[in-house]
Amino acid sequence: MIVGIGVDIIEIDRIQKSIETYGDKFLEKIYTPTEVEYCSTKGDKYRRYAARFAIKEAVYKAVMKYDPTVAWQDISVKNESDGAPLLEDLPKIARIRAQGVTIHISLSHSNNYAVATAVAEKMV
Ligand SMILES: CC(C)(COP(=O)(O)OP(=O)(O)OC[C@H]1O[C@@H](n2cnc3c(N)ncnc32)[C@H](O)[C@@H]1OP(=O)(O)O)[C@@H](O)C(=O)NCCC(=O)NCCS
Repeated sequence: MIVGIGVDIIEIDRIQKSIETYGDKFLEKIYTPTEVEYCSTKGDKYRRYAARFAIKEAVYKAVMKYDPTVAWQDISVKNESDGAPLLEDLPKIARIRAQGVTIHISLSHSNNYAVATAVAEKMV
């Protein structure tokens, strides 16, 4: 059954301004090395960063009842060889997964906005 759902939308230029203003300080606060490595190699990197910002908010909404302490660095997106996004098995996410919860995620980005959705599912 679905035990949590989250969605988030963000203006890409908001993330671009934060990165241009605060640089590595912002990147290191919000993003994991896996995410920085992926986004920084893309021509449209601000879209990618914005989508990852949105998915962190969306995952938080979906799993907060399992762990309200989940924070930016606890949620990290990696991409499979076909491009599909997955959550890395970082400790707080692993502890939620150990309770039988599967977290599904999806990202999209256009010129101006990035959007992300997370669904938490538990087998009963
Ligand atoms: C994969 C695909 C759907 C991405 O869509 P898009 O409009 O190009 O790009 P979006 O901005 O909406 O989505 C990009 C995100 O999709 C996700 N994505 C990429 N490949 C994916 C896949 N195989 N499965 C799930 N998600 C995928 C990624 O998270 C990506 O963002 P990221 O690289 O920053 O992580 C698209 O390239 C594609 O293959 N479309 C096929 C079209 C088609 O057959 N349509 C028929 C539908 S019935």
